[in-house]
Amino acid sequence: MSSTTSNMLKVAVIGGEGIGPEVTAEAQRVLRWFAEKRAAPVTLREAQYGVVPYLASGHVMPPATVEAIEEADAILFGATGGPETKEVPPEARKAASLLKLRQKYDLYANLRPIVAAPALVEAAPLKPSVLEGVDFIILRELTGGIYFGEPRGIETLPDGRRRGFNTEVYTTDKIQRVARTAFELARKRRGKVCSVDKANVLEASVLWREEVIALHKAEFADVELSHMYVDNAAMQIVRAPAQFDVMVTGNIFGDILSDCAAMCAGSLGMLPSASLGPVDRFGKRKALFEPVHGSAPDIAGKGIANPLGSILSVAMMLRLSLDRPQDAALLEKAVDTALSKGARTADIAEKGARILTTSAMGDAVIDALNALA
Ligand code: IPM
Ligand code: MG
Repeated sequence: MSSTTSNMLKVAVIGGEGIGPEVTAEAQRVLRWFAEKRAAPVTLREAQYGVVPYLASGHVMPPATVEAIEEADAILFGATGGPETKEVPPEARKAASLLKLRQKYDLYANLRPIVAAPALVEAAPLKPSVLEGVDFIILRELTGGIYFGEPRGIETLPDGRRRGFNTEVYTTDKIQRVARTAFELARKRRGKVCSVDKANVLEASVLWREEVIALHKAEFADVELSHMYVDNAAMQIVRAPAQFDVMVTGNIFGDILSDCAAMCAGSLGMLPSASLGPVDRFGKRKALFEPVHGSAPDIAGKGIANPLGSILSVAMMLRLSLDRPQDAALLEKAVDTALSKGARTADIAEKGARILTTSAMGDAVIDALNALA
């Protein structure tokens, strides 16, 4: 590898399915802006994923995509999950799914920042008083728990009934490493971690809590640690979300709570995420950046989806994979500027607001970047 290319962050850009390609196109424009105008050292390689390559080649994830992901330092991902058609058989989808990617690259630390943008307080379904000062991160463990636990399956019992089963499982190592990430994150923020579990019922949660407490005691006593049962956490997220700084939790609780927390940000369409793998011996870690929203097949192809979740995922890439905090802050500011000037897609529009298309929202962010830079 030549010295010029070795300093470049290799980004695989995978729009995927549903609204994924539309929103990712805007995020990619923004990333290119940083490459061109701010000399962000990135090379982009586009790759296909999902129903389109499946119909063309029989692969949900064609070999070129597998290769692009393998060589990438960072992946900018759109969405997975097409319309409920029989076009892609479940086995083909399972073999090449987003879940498989998370597992293959051990992307255990899923950061989902929840920020209530002042400009969206009116459009958000929660009261302005509830939204004041909301700025927290849900750190979701992404490679364990019931998503991957064995045994799992659907079986037919001798009496003809069918039985579906999954296993919630956490080992100490998986708990410890995500708890460590939580404490380290909190030290750079407001110094508070809330660990969410269901330790009143589930053994996996009992162990979770014990391990979080032990690590806290051994290495992170300066961080304020609290614990919450997941049902209470769901309520607190809509009752008093400003209390949270870093919330750390297992895979399925994090999945559910992050959709719930999206109401603090006004819309699911606003939420970005980063999924980080372990740090390797060169100090690098593989990372996947994607909006939290899914493929939204009902609005796919209409050009009306909100690209801000994807665009804000680029800000996370600038901060976490490129170590360019100033550029990340610039992009977040540009999004805020666009919003405070009234840029709205349908999902974040207050009554009477002019509604922008996906690409017009991309324009609004680029205009703001040009004005701010
Ligand atoms: C998410 C999504 C995924 C998940 C789906 C698409 C598998 O809901 O990232 O939150 O459940 O993890
Ligand atoms: Mg989800």
